[in-house]
Amino acid sequence: MERLVIRGGNSLQGSLRVHGSKNAALPILAASVLVDEPCTISGVPNLLDIQAMINILKSLGMEVVQENDRVNILNAKVSTTNVPDELMRKMRSSIFLMGPLLAKYGSVTVSRPGGCAIGSRRIDLHLNGLKALGASIIEVNGFIHCEAKRLRGADIYLDFPSVGATENIMMAASMAEGVTEIINPAREPEIIDLANFINSIGGRIEGAGTDRITIYGKSKLNSNQGHIHYEVISDRIVAGTIMVGAAMTNGDVIIENANPVYLSSVISKLKQVGAEVIIKDHSIRVIGPKELDKIDRIVTAPYPGFPTDMQPQLMSMLTIAKGTSIIKESVFEERFKHVEQLLRMGAKINVDLNLAFIRGVERLQGSTVKATDLRAGASLVLAGLVAEGETEIESVYHIDRGYENIEGMFRKLGADITRK
Ligand code: UD1
Repeated sequence: MERLVIRGGNSLQGSLRVHGSKNAALPILAASVLVDEPCTISGVPNLLDIQAMINILKSLGMEVVQENDRVNILNAKVSTTNVPDELMRKMRSSIFLMGPLLAKYGSVTVSRPGGCAIGSRRIDLHLNGLKALGASIIEVNGFIHCEAKRLRGADIYLDFPSVGATENIMMAASMAEGVTEIINPAREPEIIDLANFINSIGGRIEGAGTDRITIYGKSKLNSNQGHIHYEVISDRIVAGTIMVGAAMTNGDVIIENANPVYLSSVISKLKQVGAEVIIKDHSIRVIGPKELDKIDRIVTAPYPGFPTDMQPQLMSMLTIAKGTSIIKESVFEERFKHVEQLLRMGAKINVDLNLAFIRGVERLQGSTVKATDLRAGASLVLAGLVAEGETEIESVYHIDRGYENIEGMFRKLGADITRK
C-alpha cells in the first residue's frame, strides 16, 4: 500500500499550472456516448476515476484511445447498454452513463454506483428526472433498468440543485423529442462545461450556469465539422487546494490557469484569514500571512456558495488559525471524517451534527494518518505541510482519484513530500 511521507515546515513558493477538471471531464466523457463523429477531448487529467470512466466506455464497445491528456473517441457506437457491475462500483460518476445511453439507444442497465463514502448519496433526483422524460424504470436486486423508445422533453424541477442529476438530465434531454426545462438546476462551472461540450457536438443547451436550463432535443447530435475538439476547464478544487496550502505555509504561489470567478468563495475566505490574493485574468496569486485569523462562519452550499469539496482543506488551515472557527457542512451528511485524523495530529475540533468548532492550536504534530476519502486526503496533505516532524498518509489511492501526482505538484512548490 502506497503512502505519502511529508516533512512539514517548508513554505510553498513558485508558480504552477493545474490539470484539467475531474468533475468536468467525467460527465463530458460520459456524454461522448452521444457523439456521431470522431472526437478529441483534451485537458483530461490522468486520475483513477477518469481511468475507470474510460474503462466503462471501452467495456460498452466504444473505440477510445488515450494519449497523455487527450482522449480520442474514434467510434462511439456501443455493442451493449449494460454497464458492468464491477466497474459501476468503482465510482459514483458511472451513474452518468444512464442519461446518454438511454437517450441514444432506448435502454440502459446499471447497478447502484460506488464512490466516496461521505453520505447517503441518493440517486432519486437522477431517476425522477429520467422518469419525467418518459423512461420506465425498474430496480431488481440492486440493478436498475431504464427503457424509453424515445424520451420526451419535460419541465423538471429539482428539489435540490444536484450536480450529477442536472448533468444526467442534460445529457438525456439533448436527444429527447422536444424541449426540456430544468428548474433549480446546479449552477457549477462544470455544468457550463458540459453544456458547452454538448453544444460543440451538435446539441442545443441554453442557460447553463443560471437557475433555469433549456435543452432543445435533437434526434441526432452531429456538428457537421468532421472531427470535434473540446478542451476541459481547469480544476478549481485542485487550484483551491494549492491556494490554501500557500496561505497556510506563509507561502507565495501563483496558479497560472485558474478562473478567479469560479473560486470567488474560496478567495473570500482566504482574505478573511489574512492572505493577500492578487487576481489577473487567468491567474491567482496567494501570499500567506504570518499568522492566520479565524473564520467565524463557513457554510458549504451549492455553487456559487462555498464548495463542500474545499471544506476539509479549509478545516485543515483553521486548525492553526488564531481563535475558534466554525464550519457548517450542509451538502453531505458524513463529510467530517478527516476530523478524527486531524485530531491525531493535535488539532482541537469538536463536532456537533453538521457543525465543526475548530479551536486553533500553535502547531500540528506529524503523525500516521489515513485518507478516508478524496478531499479528506487532500486536507491531511495540507496539515502535513505545516506539522512538526513527519506525517505519513495511508490509503493514498483516495487522493489519486482527484489529484494527478499530488506529491510532484507540492514538491515543485518546495514541499518535502515523497511517495513510498
Ligand atoms: C458532485 C461532485 C462532487 C461534489 C458534489 C457537490 C462530480 C463528479 N462530483 O457530486 O465532487 O462534492 O457534486 O458539489 O461532479 N442528492 C440526492 N439525490 C440525488 C442526487 C443527490 O438527495 O439524486 C443529494 C446528495 O446525497 C448530496 C447532495 O444531493 O447530499 C449533493 O449531491 P450532488 O450535487 O448530486 O453531488 P454529486 O453529483 O454526487
